[in-house]
Amino acid sequence: MVLNGINMANITPKSVVTSTFGHVLPKNILPFRGINDIRQEQIDAVNKKDSFTKTTPTFNFDECYEKYYNADKINSVINGRIKEICAENGSVPHVEDDIITNFDKHHIETTYEYAAKIGKEIKLNSDEMYKLEVAATLHDIGKTLIPDEILNKPFGLDPDERKIINTHSELGYEILKELGADEDALDVALNHHKDGAGGKLCDIVKIADRYSALTSVRPYKGAFTPEKAFAILDKEVKEGKIKGDYLQALKDSLGFKDPKPIEKEVVNA
Ligand SMILES: [Fe+2]
Repeated sequence: MVLNGINMANITPKSVVTSTFGHVLPKNILPFRGINDIRQEQIDAVNKKDSFTKTTPTFNFDECYEKYYNADKINSVINGRIKEICAENGSVPHVEDDIITNFDKHHIETTYEYAAKIGKEIKLNSDEMYKLEVAATLHDIGKTLIPDEILNKPFGLDPDERKIINTHSELGYEILKELGADEDALDVALNHHKDGAGGKLCDIVKIADRYSALTSVRPYKGAFTPEKAFAILDKEVKEGKIKGDYLQALKDSLGFKDPKPIEKEVVNA
């Protein structure tokens, strides 16, 4: 069967649109520019591979957590490179036998929540939102290989312990590369503690990560109030460590208002 010059046996979405709009109504003789543009968009959409079928999946924190924070999977990627990084820093890769248990799930959950709030506030599109949510959830996955006694130390870390804990960024990058995570997740895992490094999603996660840490109880400190946490982060903006517009987005999303400066009392001499 032949329709508009197309053999039905070979019919595709592209051939239908090309036939209907491309030949019958060529762009340069269409009377209305608006219709012309819409039809051209339809032709362009068909020409773009996957444009009809590609949809952004819905993010689910627990699914993402279970998928990646899994000792069997992480054990399976403890290969030469990870052993090298640990050996250089005097550490031994360490994971539990089942789902990772030696890890602060509350921190990654709140980091994800704050990152998502910033993303929503600055109106990221759905594709970027999904990438941000995944990247925030996976940012500290390298800590699964850091020994508990260092991770949960109640007082200051000595220089060697600091060196070991700092490897969690590189370890996370290596784990995620092996597990096939996307580029933004790799960027965030590798750069979330480096000032001036990383892309846009990394800049957002840096703030979410810091706010979560400051407002949570840690082995070495209590939870700071939002006022105190934001005062610390304002200082970090001034030092160029984090981005002020994303910090403001977090404040706005939480309904936080900066306290008014206390006016100094004028004393007449
Ligand atoms: Fe980290």
